[in-house]
Amino acid sequence: MKKTKIHFLDELDLKNKNIFMRVDFNVPLAEGKVKDSHRIDKILPSIRYVLEQGGRLVLGSHLGRPDGQPDSQLSLKPVAEYLTETHNLEVLFLDEPDSEAPPVLLPGLKGNQLILLENLRFQKGEMDGDREFAKKLAAYTDIYINEGFSISHRAHASVVLLPELVSCRGGGFLLREEMKQLDYIRLNPKKPFFVILGGSKVKDKIPLLESLIDQADEFFIGGLIAYTFLKAQGVSVGHSPVEEGYLRQVADFIERIKERGKKLWLPKDHVVVNASPSQDSAKTTKGQDISENYQGVDIGPFTQKEFTERIVRAYSLFWNGPMGLFEKEPFSFGTHALARAVASHGLAHRVVGGGHSALAVRDYEDQINHVSTGGGASLHYLQGSNIPGIQSIKM
Ligand code: 3PG
Repeated sequence: MKKTKIHFLDELDLKNKNIFMRVDFNVPLAEGKVKDSHRIDKILPSIRYVLEQGGRLVLGSHLGRPDGQPDSQLSLKPVAEYLTETHNLEVLFLDEPDSEAPPVLLPGLKGNQLILLENLRFQKGEMDGDREFAKKLAAYTDIYINEGFSISHRAHASVVLLPELVSCRGGGFLLREEMKQLDYIRLNPKKPFFVILGGSKVKDKIPLLESLIDQADEFFIGGLIAYTFLKAQGVSVGHSPVEEGYLRQVADFIERIKERGKKLWLPKDHVVVNASPSQDSAKTTKGQDISENYQGVDIGPFTQKEFTERIVRAYSLFWNGPMGLFEKEPFSFGTHALARAVASHGLAHRVVGGGHSALAVRDYEDQINHVSTGGGASLHYLQGSNIPGIQSIKM
């Protein structure tokens, strides 16, 4: 029989069950402490719910890309400390997820006690999708819960194999909200629907643009990907990064947008720097062309104004990717201007994909319908909801 239904936490009987919850605690650390707890805080309701319902909880996550080798810089210990100190949870931190320790300790867990496993990517079997590794986790799991939307596009052992080896599986509350909000954008956004894309990789963004070509009414392209779009239209972009291999595909996409009578907005001016980006050499271009020795690092003030004024016409908005080199403060102004405009446009249903754009709207998050915790995962989900970690929890 075809598996189609996802059961969420509040539809499952959790009492006295061992619950393995795959989460995404891939968070920035500094000096051995959690620097940005946002992703952790977002799943607290699911953690608390399992404990209140009398479930015995094991949390499994990755952090960084250690590639099957322990790396003390990527230990999840700081997350265990954060959960204990800030959320008053009693966390048993276990180094070896596939050892005897979890099944031995699980029956004794009470109240606000839970187990957090060390970084799953310290195990070779995790990223290799090793069935034997997944079986060891399944041996002490009654119910598998995916509460790591942002890792759901990866076909790793704890994301796809483990749930398939467990008879009962489902999703957490954040996963449900992510799916609901992205489904709104994917399936039936209120029109007009505008898509704003930035960031650095045309390769990652082109499939999304293709999948929204019929649904969206207007496209706004900024960030580093814009230079490939501009070059594809014959604009001089100087030393700005261009993904030459995608020029033809981008030109073809632009052609098809025009044939459908849709609007494409590209930057009409830029903040540029000489050779290597530094604040000293930054200047604003007078028009769309960038001269030979310069490279674009942000949208210019005219473009900021044009984009931010135009988007107020949308009734639905999806935004992913910064408008410039957001991580360098002087080149983050375009992204911040857009973040303020998206936040204040309360008439539209607004969904922001993760990564830098999510960071840019952090201060306004409560004014926006949804800010996804998943960068790559949200892009993949919008192209078709059957991403590995969602498919594998259907029953
Ligand atoms: C993320 O931060 O986007 C997720 O945790 C996925 O991490 P990965 O790209 O290393 O798989």
